[in-house]
Amino acid sequence: MEKTIAVLEGDGIGPEIVRESLKVLRAIEEKYGHAFTCTFAPFGASAYFTEGSPFPDRTKAVCDGADVIIKGPVGLAVEEMSRIPPEHRPEIGAILPLRSRYDTFANFRPVRLPRGLASFSPLKPELLGEGIDILMIRELVGGIYFGEKVEGPKTGMAYARDDCTYTDAQVRRVAVVAFEEAKKKGCDLTNIHKANVLATSRFWNAVVEDVARSYPDVRHHSLLVDNAAYQLVKNPTGLNGVVLLENMQGDILTDEAGGIIGSLGLMPSACIGPGKGYVEPAHGSAPDIAGKNIANPYSMIGSIALMLDRCLGLPGEAQEVWDALFAVFRQGFTTAELAGGEGPERTVLSTSAFGDAVVKNIAGRA
Ligand code: NAD
Ligand code: IPM
Ligand code: MN
Repeated sequence: MEKTIAVLEGDGIGPEIVRESLKVLRAIEEKYGHAFTCTFAPFGASAYFTEGSPFPDRTKAVCDGADVIIKGPVGLAVEEMSRIPPEHRPEIGAILPLRSRYDTFANFRPVRLPRGLASFSPLKPELLGEGIDILMIRELVGGIYFGEKVEGPKTGMAYARDDCTYTDAQVRRVAVVAFEEAKKKGCDLTNIHKANVLATSRFWNAVVEDVARSYPDVRHHSLLVDNAAYQLVKNPTGLNGVVLLENMQGDILTDEAGGIIGSLGLMPSACIGPGKGYVEPAHGSAPDIAGKNIANPYSMIGSIALMLDRCLGLPGEAQEVWDALFAVFRQGFTTAELAGGEGPERTVLSTSAFGDAVVKNIAGRA
């Protein structure tokens, strides 16, 4: 297969973990005889400082011309954000425009912790049963993120407003993706909402129920978002299967899920739309550990696996990446933020050594 890939390294740990993910992609490329042509382009806070925009026109052109986009995390440390005017900050000025440009409405965030890695979790092992295997599917281009935003004085009072809207079509298409996924996996679907307060959640649920009628074989439940946050800690395996979330609630619960499996560094993601998709870790630029070669590249390498599967239609190659990732843990290695705690003694690998270990485990190269 021949494909062109736009690579946006991003900020903070972005370049470090993107580098490792590309090593793994190269190993897959060689083994399977694919040809992936990567073009790097600036994106995020670093792009603002060098080019005056967090999503420069030339980056848009590179992305438009590519088959798929690999994106590292972007953003400055919270205390440094004021160095960039609000409209040029990477979140508002780059990530959201990237998502809406390609209408990537379905954000796949797998939350996986096999039983053998229970010691990574801050939860007691007995809460982890046979392991956590949740596929969180987060709506990514609607809701409060994309509604009108108003800040300013009105009738003499300072005030601010963020509108939250969802259309039938916006809810329907992501619900269909989630039900299709649950049907394929033969698992339960849990729909998360806040219908006891929000009109948009009541509407969301009505559309989800309508979609559910076309999937009589998929067992589905619904859960208020506050209870879901609680259940994730008290009984995470009770959510195994597909979990469907709107944009804002999905943002928060996917980070919580990262905490439950031990690290945001274990949270890859893929953003899928009607055309080209892009992949990124679920976490941010981790300014606290940037430049130290200690970040966990699993999230970015797992994003490559998601890209191979969901964007390029190469499930065999994707599985090989997953197998190689988990083999590194099975061989007794870990990364700095996962080290310590109960469980077997593990050797801590740097970011680059972890990438090398994954490459070694790509079959045929060991
Ligand atoms: P963060 O997700 O960057 O970091 C939170 C914590 O998780 C930190 O302690 C960090 O060290 C740790 N962490 C994250 N990824 C890790 C990894 N791969 N390996 C080991 N530890 C890891 O959250 P933050 O510090 O609140 O945000 C920093 C910046 O990132 C902000 O500007 C924020 O807006 C931005 N952000 C961007 C994205 C994105 O690009 N999609 C996502 C979330 C946050
Ligand atoms: C994420 C991030 C983004 C979001 C921010 C940085 C815009 O937190 O991808 O989870 O809220 O969607
Ligand atoms: Mn987030």
